[in-house]
Amino acid sequence: MPADRPQEQFDYVQHLQLDKLLTSMRQVTPHPEEHLFVTVHHVLELWFKHIIFDLERIIQAVDADQLAQANWLLRRIGEIMRLAEAHWTVLETLTAADFAEFRGQLTGASGMQSRQFRQVEVMLGLHQTAGAEYVARVEKLWPGLLAEHPRTLRDAFFAAFARRGRSLLQVYHQRWVEHDLFQLAENAFELDRRFYSWRQNHILMVRRQIGIRARGTGGTFFQDYLAATTQYYFFPELFEFRNELTADAGGEVMPKTP
Ligand code: HEM
Repeated sequence: MPADRPQEQFDYVQHLQLDKLLTSMRQVTPHPEEHLFVTVHHVLELWFKHIIFDLERIIQAVDADQLAQANWLLRRIGEIMRLAEAHWTVLETLTAADFAEFRGQLTGASGMQSRQFRQVEVMLGLHQTAGAEYVARVEKLWPGLLAEHPRTLRDAFFAAFARRGRSLLQVYHQRWVEHDLFQLAENAFELDRRFYSWRQNHILMVRRQIGIRARGTGGTFFQDYLAATTQYYFFPELFEFRNELTADAGGEVMPKTP
């Protein structure tokens, strides 16, 4: 900032726009426990927003071969997802009986309508691995979302390996030489690992709060919707090639089923 231009003064409240942030709490029921339910969702949406912000930078950094920076930011996303999971234990202090008392008044509101959650999945490239049903659902519910993200982290990841002419197996064997690619693969694996446990813990929450056979406020039954999401991986290759690693070292590995 040049010295001749007076710097606008602002305080903590103005900097963080707390007037806006803190007035967005709106309970739709008089139940005191709804406050926690809304707070946890708000907090997670704020983190999703930040993940989207950083993912944009990460994809650009991988494409520019700035792997050190990409890896640093990817590690942060892993940490944010670890923190996101910690919210489940807080939400577990909402009893199922309390939730049942106000859930009916949430009408059709459901986390499945979180555009940001879907945007994170799409930026990572889930539509490239999860199958046609997933793609159709995203296109129907969020028209334009896929087109908004023509370059995914998956695209950038595999392009980085291709530029270097290295396979996953080679990089893992040469992990201290090809360290930046190795780190990229480990960080990508960590994302899958974190999302996997987030999804599992979310399902445990569903079982705890409403029961596995109850219809969600979004209109779905577990077996028709959430059950399939446990099969979602952004980088299934990073799981699959570990069989190769084992076989390569002389371990017994079953043939791949089609
Ligand atoms: C009492 C706690 C919760 C219950 C009982 C619950 C229940 C459900 C159910 C039943 C679904 C399936 C769709 C439906 O029919 O509604 C769902 C989806 C979802 N919920 Fe929750 N949820 C809870 C908390 C949360 C929280 C705190 C978040 C954080 C943002 C969240 C995010 C999501 C997302 C993103 C989906 C879509 C998942 C996907 O498509 O893979 N949920 N939830």
